[in-house]
Amino acid sequence: MLQEAGQPGVAFRADIPPEPTPAELDATMIAQALTNIMKNAGEAIESLREKGEPEGYRPEIRVTFSVEEGNAVILIADNGIGLPQDRSRLFEPYVTTRDHGTGLGLPIVKKIIEEHGGRLDLRDAEPFAEGAHCGALAEITLPVSLVQAPAQGGAEPARSDTTSATAATGE
Ligand SMILES: Nc1ncnc2c1ncn2[C@@H]1O[C@H](COP(=O)(O)OP(=O)(O)O)[C@@H](O)[C@H]1O
Ligand SMILES: [Mg+2]
Repeated sequence: MLQEAGQPGVAFRADIPPEPTPAELDATMIAQALTNIMKNAGEAIESLREKGEPEGYRPEIRVTFSVEEGNAVILIADNGIGLPQDRSRLFEPYVTTRDHGTGLGLPIVKKIIEEHGGRLDLRDAEPFAEGAHCGALAEITLPVSLVQAPAQGGAEPARSDTTSATAATGE
């Protein structure tokens, strides 16, 4: 993964289905949004290291992708320093807790996602190890126009057969 090059010593775990998901989106913009989120995850890990990482700390970013009810759901979790106490304004421009932060990453990400009809949420991640602290979890939900997949199992075709049989009877 391209991002791995920029994050030395950080383990990546990606759970992404092999088949592509057809979706109408601006790939450049979405890539920029994802890069910003990954960057924040990397910086959160960096912040924890600077503060003094816990013993046995294994920095890690976990990415999962799934499609649920016509939405692509992308989860990006890290075990970095964790979200600040006050999260209410993190999506606003110029709100940053980092020394050299701009506070412009999340507003841009949010704008891009919302322009695609999606939404962005930020919350605590589940601890990656027992008793470990919580990092952050970014959840991106994007509507995707799924091409009709072939029906699986017996139930679906049976129902459509019934429909056409009914139609035939009506003639
Ligand atoms: N993965 C994360 N872990 C912890 N805090 C985060 C994370 N992502 C964003 N934040 C918080 O949100 C703030 C705003 O993020 P952002 O808009 O990208 O600006 P910047 O990265 O320049 O600070 C950060 O300063 C930080 O407090
Ligand atoms: Mg940022």
